[in-house]
Amino acid sequence: MKIPRCIVVIVTLLSANLLAATPIPVAEENAEEAARMVAKMVIIGRGIVAGHQGVINDPAKGNKGFSPDYMTTHMRKTFEKKMGMSVDQVTPSGVKKALLAVLDASSVAVRNNQGRINRPGVKFKGFIPAVYGRITGNILKAKTGIGLKQTTFKYRNAYNKPDQFEAGVLKKFESGELEEGYGMRVGAKYRYMEPIYIKKACMKCHGQPKGELDIAGKVKEGYEIGDLRGAISISLPVN
Ligand code: HEC
Repeated sequence: MKIPRCIVVIVTLLSANLLAATPIPVAEENAEEAARMVAKMVIIGRGIVAGHQGVINDPAKGNKGFSPDYMTTHMRKTFEKKMGMSVDQVTPSGVKKALLAVLDASSVAVRNNQGRINRPGVKFKGFIPAVYGRITGNILKAKTGIGLKQTTFKYRNAYNKPDQFEAGVLKKFESGELEEGYGMRVGAKYRYMEPIYIKKACMKCHGQPKGELDIAGKVKEGYEIGDLRGAISISLPVN
């Protein structure tokens, strides 16, 4: 059967439109708040993936129940507990939309990895916080134009290597000159960094003894609890 050319053109245009990033309009005066919230939400998502490593890596279990809905419900609950308000109460609307976009990207990331998460008979699945963050970041970028990077001086992957802006801020986190999130406008973007620290849950892969291999087969960095691990780096298009 021959498909009429006009239909082909329409379908092509529609799918290109769906694939193209739809920027979330964030006014410059709300950019810091939006970037900070996005970073906090990513850290919450990472925490949930970290807290479920036992279930995810259980070889005796098939379906783990670690579904997209489960993930986003937990993210919303944790957000509410930490921030004292629900995602739906967040204002202005640009900030809320950015947060909803992180929830949506996280949901897609978990959905796209259901096969991996639910595979029985396999111990380590590799669905760890950094991998969740990387996949979610790619989806978020494609859908909204918001950039998300997990950067550190001791990077395991070259794509996490800090750029000039990130290296400057990481140094200030390290020296203690900056203790909390920091952001500024750079060209058409608002760039923001939220420091992340080593917790107990990170130690088995990033802790002592330095040089030993972790469960993922990568070299442990030898961090101690409380050490600066790096930062969540957000790059937000502003209008
Ligand atoms: C099961 C092992 C494991 C655990 C637990 C773990 N990580 Fe990782 N981490 C890795 C691996 C493997 C990578 C490289 C991932 C990739 O392929 O992008 C990584 C990468 C990262 C990165 C990206 C920078 C880089 O090295 O390329 C950050 C930041 C990070 N981890 C922080 C943490 C923090 C903070 C915790 C605790 C909440 C944690 N990780 C827990 C294994 C782990």
